[in-house]
Amino acid sequence: MPPLVEAEALSRRFGALRALDELTLTIGEGEWVAITGPSGSGKTTLLNILSGLDHPTSGTVRVGGVDLGGLSRSELARYRQRTVGLVFQQFHLIPYLTALENVMLAQYVHSMTDRGEAEEALRRVGLGERLGHLPSQLSGGEQQRVCIARALINQPPLILADEPTGNLDAVNEAIVMSLLGDLHQRGHTLILVTHDASIATRANREIRLEHGRLAHVEQPGELELLGVLAELWQLIEEDREPVSITRRGVAELMADGLLAFADGKIAFTERGHAQARAAVRRVRLAEVLVERTLARSSGEECGREAPVAAGFEDQVCAFLDHPRTCPHGRPIPPGADCIASRREGEG
Ligand SMILES: Nc1ncnc2c1ncn2[C@@H]1O[C@H](COP(=O)(O)OP(=O)(O)OP(=O)(O)O)[C@@H](O)[C@H]1O
Ligand SMILES: [Mg+2]
Repeated sequence: MPPLVEAEALSRRFGALRALDELTLTIGEGEWVAITGPSGSGKTTLLNILSGLDHPTSGTVRVGGVDLGGLSRSELARYRQRTVGLVFQQFHLIPYLTALENVMLAQYVHSMTDRGEAEEALRRVGLGERLGHLPSQLSGGEQQRVCIARALINQPPLILADEPTGNLDAVNEAIVMSLLGDLHQRGHTLILVTHDASIATRANREIRLEHGRLAHVEQPGELELLGVLAELWQLIEEDREPVSITRRGVAELMADGLLAFADGKIAFTERGHAQARAAVRRVRLAEVLVERTLARSSGEECGREAPVAAGFEDQVCAFLDHPRTCPHGRPIPPGADCIASRREGEG
């Protein structure tokens, strides 16, 4: 997937506040990315910069290889017209124009007016019967569909949507999401800001912002690999069983340099050892957590629980008072805090 959006060390300050802080990311052509993160984490600021409505304080953004910082005012206006379609949480429709006129106004901005095409755009979003309605005569979901028709009038390769379902009920949310999903299917690159985890999971990838920086999010496949690592740890480090090459994920881990051949056997590399140890810690802490807090047994087999979220293992471990073993009696690799607390206990 060639990159469509490349942001490098992007910062946007408002006085002393860093809305975006040295943010670097790449989004591929045709990708669907969900941008998530707490309120104030910089999501809208990022979309504003990508759409050319705002400028970074430092750093660069390229879209389709073009450095937005190097564009003149009129070139930037042309970029906005040709390349991006914007969908907002607030619909921003002109209240005294009908649905059709709102879409035709967007065409006018793109220096083209074609009534037939505007009608077709509204029909595509299921509003063929509502062409002459004013925004006040349309439901929230219908208004948002007018916005989508308006954003798409120029077939922009990049669609930026900021909480497009934030004001909608469940039915309209489903309609708007299926329209956006359809656009992604047709090859548009979609960057969608959302607070809703179930919407984020529909994207190919989630980018989570915290304080204007990237927060770690486990990508699909990554969790599965973590499970394989934990399982291999059990086999290689604890049960001393030979590992078969066909085991799923092993080839991938070898390619990533986490496993290597030594004396005809598979062993962890130093990096692999550290990652597998961390994976086992996260999995076994989750087992203890589930058993103690939900009073639910984590099953016969070790390693079946979804791991504790990355970055939270030390807090969870302290909350559980640094357990030494999982419910199946297998050791939980200690963290630095556990070792300190054990020393205190013994001293
Ligand atoms: N024009 C501005 N002037 C001053 N501060 C601003 C401006 N725009 C945004 N900010 C600040 O920058 C930070 C990031 O704002 P942004 O709107 O990007 O957050 P967000 O992640 O979209 O939040 P939400 O989920 O609430 O929409 C916030 O602290 C906000 O107050
Ligand atoms: Mg916002």
